[in-house]
Amino acid sequence: MKDRHVVVLSGAGISAESGLGTFRGGGGLWEGVSVKDVATPEAWQRDRARVLRFYNERRRDIRRAEPNDAHRALRELEDVFKVTIITQNIDDLHERAGSSDVVHLHGEIMKARSSLDERLLYPCVGDISIGDTCAKGSQLRPHVVWFGEPVPKMEEAISVAKTADFFIVVGTSLEVYPAASLVDYVPYESTKFFIDPSPSGLADESFHVIASAASEGVPRVVSQLRALMA
Ligand code: APR
Repeated sequence: MKDRHVVVLSGAGISAESGLGTFRGGGGLWEGVSVKDVATPEAWQRDRARVLRFYNERRRDIRRAEPNDAHRALRELEDVFKVTIITQNIDDLHERAGSSDVVHLHGEIMKARSSLDERLLYPCVGDISIGDTCAKGSQLRPHVVWFGEPVPKMEEAISVAKTADFFIVVGTSLEVYPAASLVDYVPYESTKFFIDPSPSGLADESFHVIASAASEGVPRVVSQLRALMA
């Protein structure tokens, strides 16, 4: 049955039970900071050191975090289905749980990139400091998509969404575009699930809504899908 394709759209909520902050949970602040102060090109122009410090702290948090039962259940799906995970998250918890096909719409914090030439990428598990430069001599920055920047992997994600037999949305408020528009590309006849303890951002009645935390809801959906294929 590996010909049946499960596509997952995950957001910060799937990593919440791994101890990582969501973007709009803390009164609209991300780890106590407004995204406009650390996650925009203007913030980078205004205070590079502050932006680097913020992402260095996020990277340390992520290195201390572990994948949870939701990440692990999605890895188990690969035993039965073709699985593609489209994530808005910049953490590497899907990969560390063993998922083999992960598309990071908003970039990856464990990579650094040239602020001059975005093709120049470097592994980054430690801090990025002022003065850390790329091969062309320009300051390194986190390889993440900031507000107002293009989302280079959106076309790839749309192509993936169009091939979904099953579509699981987990841990996202669906407030940020273009990522949220992916739900519009999923075939009408596919079976769709929305997993969120406080499901709000979804207007589409065709989803099976599971009002629970990811670590409970995802394993439940995975068990249902595996039973279908038993
Ligand atoms: N399990 C599942 N979902 C949860 C959990 C949990 N334990 N805890 C919270 N949630 C849900 C919240 O109810 C909310 O709907 O996760 C969602 C988190 O929404 P946001 O904080 O808006 O995060 P996300 O949707 O990933 O944000 C999208 O916005 O700031 C940008 O680039 C950033 O990728 C991010 C994008």
